[in-house]
Amino acid sequence: MPNPPDANSARPEPPEPAETPDQGKPNQGMQKGLTSYGDQDFSLFLRKAFIKGAGYTDAALGRPVIAITDTGSDYNPCHGNAPQLIDAVKRGVMLAGGLPMVFPTISIHESFAAPTSMFLRNLMAIDTEEMIRAQPMDAVVLIGGCDKTVPAQLMGAASANLPAIQLITGSMLTGSHRGERVGACTDCRRYWGKFRAGEIDAAETADVNNQLVASVGTCSVMGTASTMACIAEALGMTLPGGASPPAVTADRIRIAELTGAQAVQMARDKLLITSILTPAAFENALRVLLAIGGSTNAVVHLAAIAGRVGLDLDLQAFDRMGRETPVLLDLKPTGQHYMEDFHACGGMATLLRELKPLLRLEALTVTGRTLGQEMERAGPGFKQDVVRCIEHPIYAQGGIAVLSGNLAPGGALIKQSAADPQLMEHEGRAVVFENLQDLAARIDADDLDVTAQDVLVLKNIGPKGAPGMPEAGYLPIPRKLARAGVKDMVRISDGRMSGTAFGTIVLHVTPESAVGGALAFVRNGDRIRLSVARREISLLVSDSELARRALEHPVLEPSAERGYRKLFLQTVTQADKGVDFDFMRAPKIVGKTPQLR
Ligand code: FES
Repeated sequence: MPNPPDANSARPEPPEPAETPDQGKPNQGMQKGLTSYGDQDFSLFLRKAFIKGAGYTDAALGRPVIAITDTGSDYNPCHGNAPQLIDAVKRGVMLAGGLPMVFPTISIHESFAAPTSMFLRNLMAIDTEEMIRAQPMDAVVLIGGCDKTVPAQLMGAASANLPAIQLITGSMLTGSHRGERVGACTDCRRYWGKFRAGEIDAAETADVNNQLVASVGTCSVMGTASTMACIAEALGMTLPGGASPPAVTADRIRIAELTGAQAVQMARDKLLITSILTPAAFENALRVLLAIGGSTNAVVHLAAIAGRVGLDLDLQAFDRMGRETPVLLDLKPTGQHYMEDFHACGGMATLLRELKPLLRLEALTVTGRTLGQEMERAGPGFKQDVVRCIEHPIYAQGGIAVLSGNLAPGGALIKQSAADPQLMEHEGRAVVFENLQDLAARIDADDLDVTAQDVLVLKNIGPKGAPGMPEAGYLPIPRKLARAGVKDMVRISDGRMSGTAFGTIVLHVTPESAVGGALAFVRNGDRIRLSVARREISLLVSDSELARRALEHPVLEPSAERGYRKLFLQTVTQADKGVDFDFMRAPKIVGKTPQLR
């Protein structure tokens, strides 16, 4: 993988190592957050005695302590390069005069978390926050990549509020199947759709299964992981150029070393994460989300991260932003390319250069410089075909539109850039599935009463419903229609969908059905109207009839007897608040983002 031509100018040099260790400064390094024994001096004496059991010297223990989250796990191949990244971060920390200290947190992979990874995101955020609070450190390097890990880490670090820098694990490489380039997971869904439609047999399905994930690393298209990587850079939370290097490249390892070095500088400068996660930073992140045709999941995650620093996400303002922000990135599922192509074309520096007139250039980044200053350092662009110019976009408006109406008074989303243009103004008859079990039992039945013009409705997959708002909003096309060649239908749910998926799919219906939102009272045969142009999602049933149905079949909110599930069901918020726990948000909301000028 070639270096982007602007790589060297875009990336900071490692700070010079300190000439003398920072030994003895109160409330720094190993002296921070002493364990409570009733005698602070004894607490430090005991701590040093224990750590010296691992062979550390006083000189080492006097350095700024840079903690590194180890999110490697055999269950998480998206973090399969964590050992190499940790080695490189440690090297960077040592070169800059700090003391690296690695500690584990839980790790979450999309396909190895039941009932859904989103159920565990808040647990990882709590784990990250509390271990940052509990252990002595002057700065922390957050190593994340798979969908929920980066949001969880940013949520936790934002609440802990110390110097923090994100290191992305990086995308996987693409594979090749019978001469065709393939990558997870847009092509996973495409090939599975072919199999369901009878276009390929079981043997070919097994063959392509070997090729879809060609190396460790995160999904190679603009799914949630790639989206969050780009957003982390847009927020100013990674080094410039930190979003795009694939997991197994030298560029990724170099970024890791530089990240370690920068963490030492941040510790010395006391550059807190809350100085970076400002309204301007969130506005840049939302702008980038729209311009990359990014995952709808990022809206939920950004709402959760913003909530940790006292900001509400203003969905209507985000929608207005979308009308003036074109999709520029030609990556699957909106376009044709993969993350490694984006990296070869200069990565985020190339995208930000095109978006410059729309960005808040004064936003601070982890380098201590502003986004505008970093863009200056990145230098001029070059001819490439992955990032379009603003005059010739992939899609004239932003990738995501915000809908509302009596079916979703709290809002709903559609990824319009990945939808069938023919279906974006549509009225149809509802074909209702009460929950995931009902969907699994009936979607492929030959006697299912459904046509391609109908609207598929799935209830009870919202934050409390499933629980955990799983990515089941990408309802499969009923088998008999798929076999007849139907590729897309209007589908509506209170759940989420993978950023790698495509289709005319309305998601995040708020409030969800499990808490008595209007979606709970949709019945087979009701008419539903979708108008993306008018940002409308309406159930064509009178208010009085909906009230009558609510009385007839009142909704019983789900509950649990004990444990994390009980905590989750009692305290999880709706999609518009980020599906965070209500008690984890900042105690006081001080503003909204984006605040459009
Ligand atoms: Fe980890 Fe896609 S499953 S990024």
